[in-house]
Amino acid sequence: MSNLGDIFYLAVLVLAASAVNGRLAWPDAPYGSIVAVAKLTSRDKSSVVRGSMALVWPRPNMGNASVSLNLTGALDQITMAHIRLNATDTPIRLDLLPRYPDTAPVPLNPPLSFRGIMGFTVPFDYLRVGAWDPDNDHMSFIQALQEGLLYVSVQTAAMPGGALQGKLECQSPCMFSIGGGVVYAGR
Ligand SMILES: *[C@@H]1O[C@H](CO)[C@@H](O)[C@H](O)[C@H]1NC(C)=O
Ligand SMILES: *[C@@H]1O[C@H](CO)[C@@H](O)[C@H](O)[C@H]1NC(C)=O
Ligand SMILES: *[C@@H]1O[C@H](CO)[C@@H](O)[C@H](O)[C@H]1NC(C)=O
Repeated sequence: MSNLGDIFYLAVLVLAASAVNGRLAWPDAPYGSIVAVAKLTSRDKSSVVRGSMALVWPRPNMGNASVSLNLTGALDQITMAHIRLNATDTPIRLDLLPRYPDTAPVPLNPPLSFRGIMGFTVPFDYLRVGAWDPDNDHMSFIQALQEGLLYVSVQTAAMPGGALQGKLECQSPCMFSIGGGVVYAGR
């Protein structure tokens, strides 16, 4: 009798743990792509919003790279969303919302508020990623991704330092691959 009780108790614990620590599923991607996900959580405990992000960067000539981001709940006056480097001054490494023609961040005008679900997908390429790098090198983005130094930040008028954040987790080997090997990003 006590065995049955123990098993039930264990199952509940496992379910509870996976709900808290559950990793996001890796998105579908062409073979050999760089793939990363992030779980976005609110930095303001009183606001009810969470989100997820998926980045897919196919190897050269295997399709377009994109970032898709979903938010669930409610958030007022979103001004910007970026992928940033976790370093002093948290420089931008990719613009998500709005998209800029250049690399000078300009907030959404007017800001965007939502209730329910909001999602968008933006394309990018090695040129766009390179444009945000001081050395104009798209490999710096991949290296930062490998080192776990990139995160998504969604800013609002009330929280310009970031209302939601989530660290990018990259799927191993976090490099373009062909067969058993890895290749560097082509142009
Ligand atoms: C966002 O939502 C769409 C539609 O439900 C889904 O197809 C996509 O996988 C989601 N993306 C992420 C990163 O959660
Ligand atoms: C990639 O992007 C280009 C330019 O936006 C578009 O013309 C093309 O159809 C896209 N290719 C795929 C496979 O989605
Ligand atoms: C930035 O890095 C520090 C130190 O590793 C870590 O504690 C913090 O959670 C990171 N922040 C983000 C937004 O990833």
